[in-house]
Amino acid sequence: MLTFAFHTYGCQMNVRESEAAAHALLDAGFALAPNEELADIIIVNSCSVRGKAEDKALGKLGLLCSRKREHPNRIVGLMGCMAQRLGESIFQRVPRLDFAIGTRCTERIVQAVNAALAGKQTLALRALHERPDASSGHVVDGQFSAYVTILLGCNRRCTYCIVPDVRGNEWSRPAREVIAEVRVLSKQGVKEVTLLGQSIMNYGLRTPVFTNDDPPSPGGYVLPFPRLLEAIAAIPGIERIRFTSGHPAGVTPELIRLFAEEPKLCKHLHLPVQSGSTRVLSRMRRGYTRDGYLEAVARLRHAVPEIAITTDIIVGFPGETESDFQETRSLMNAAEFDNAFIFKYSPRPGTVSATWEDDVSEEEKSRRNQILLDDQDVRGAFRNQQLIGSSQRVLAEGPSLRNKSKWSGRTSSNKIVIFTAPKGLQSGDFIDLTIVRAAPQTLYAD
Ligand code: SAH
Ligand code: SF4
Ligand code: F3S
Repeated sequence: MLTFAFHTYGCQMNVRESEAAAHALLDAGFALAPNEELADIIIVNSCSVRGKAEDKALGKLGLLCSRKREHPNRIVGLMGCMAQRLGESIFQRVPRLDFAIGTRCTERIVQAVNAALAGKQTLALRALHERPDASSGHVVDGQFSAYVTILLGCNRRCTYCIVPDVRGNEWSRPAREVIAEVRVLSKQGVKEVTLLGQSIMNYGLRTPVFTNDDPPSPGGYVLPFPRLLEAIAAIPGIERIRFTSGHPAGVTPELIRLFAEEPKLCKHLHLPVQSGSTRVLSRMRRGYTRDGYLEAVARLRHAVPEIAITTDIIVGFPGETESDFQETRSLMNAAEFDNAFIFKYSPRPGTVSATWEDDVSEEEKSRRNQILLDDQDVRGAFRNQQLIGSSQRVLAEGPSLRNKSKWSGRTSSNKIVIFTAPKGLQSGDFIDLTIVRAAPQTLYAD
């Protein structure tokens, strides 16, 4: 039996699509390889969001293709955002690549692998305005947590961002289809779902996702996104619901009420801010100001004091001055982020900001990056220390990667907890733990 392995870069959406592609291959009679070295088929799922992400995938493909000398029958394929962006030209860069599959035709994987086995190179691209095939839920044995994509593409077009070019226009899956998928997942033992979408609170704002046949919202939610969350919370077996990524415009009174009232909705919001300077935010075309963002955070924290808020930041955006940067620093303090992902600006071909001079030096970007990381370490440690002595309900994941004698799990606020597992504890079980120690990114319990 031929075996396959995936090497996935990028965001959760790619992780989800690698899973879907893997299931298609399993259904077609291929088997998962015990490791990449032994695989007959290796598929790289790529990300285009920063230049470095593409360099990594290209480097990996180059290496895999050069090893074809030792593994002449090995098939090497590419999927994801870089395949979508580069299209035909990927075969000039990586001539021995067997196939490339764009972002809206993951289901073509089996065909592409079979064509490669017959010695044919395949390029599968679907125009980004076409709707993708319906997806369905599938899990591997023992899987208790799953991603569910509810919103494809993005219409925001922030000036630095390539995602709309590689993922296409926003398209919301019908609520019925999403609910059916989560039902299937829950029947297979999934307890936690993470809903995915680039600007996820836009769910259902452009195209109707509920029909007149759908029962009305018991909680009276009118906006499609809170209404969908409520419907998913009503599915038996689903204990936790997460979603990503948020935007301050979606922090509506309805969403805040749901965070406060629905215990299954995890107390965590990933709310990328990108910059603390209104001037930079407007050049990024983010659609909010510094004050608007902080106000959304304040409303959330007021109604749901235990909520954890995390963010993404870009340092060194074209024209970002020292004083803009200091505003980002102070906003991060004011928002009291629990965690932050900080990226150095990378000009992406075809985006608006790529036509502006990339005028913050690499050195300066690194300096700003490091300052924010150090700040966040102190802030993260401080925030986590407040939790010492508190009792937290933790979803047990399994033995910790760093210390196999301990287990790790997550709180509702998405914080990692390291603990000693009592006898009989299984992955996917809930356990109530008292926090005894805290580090910037980790909690420890007895
Ligand atoms: N849809 C999400 C972001 C998806 S991309 C949102 O808008 O919140 C993930 C993160 O990558 C972004 O939040 C941003 O911080 C970063 N990013 C996107 N384009 C980038 C670029 N050109 N250079 C550096 N970082 C970038
Ligand atoms: Fe990119 Fe902006 Fe869309 Fe996020 S909201 S994916 S940053 S264009
Ligand atoms: Fe990267 Fe594509 Fe996700 S560009 S961040 S993998 S949508």
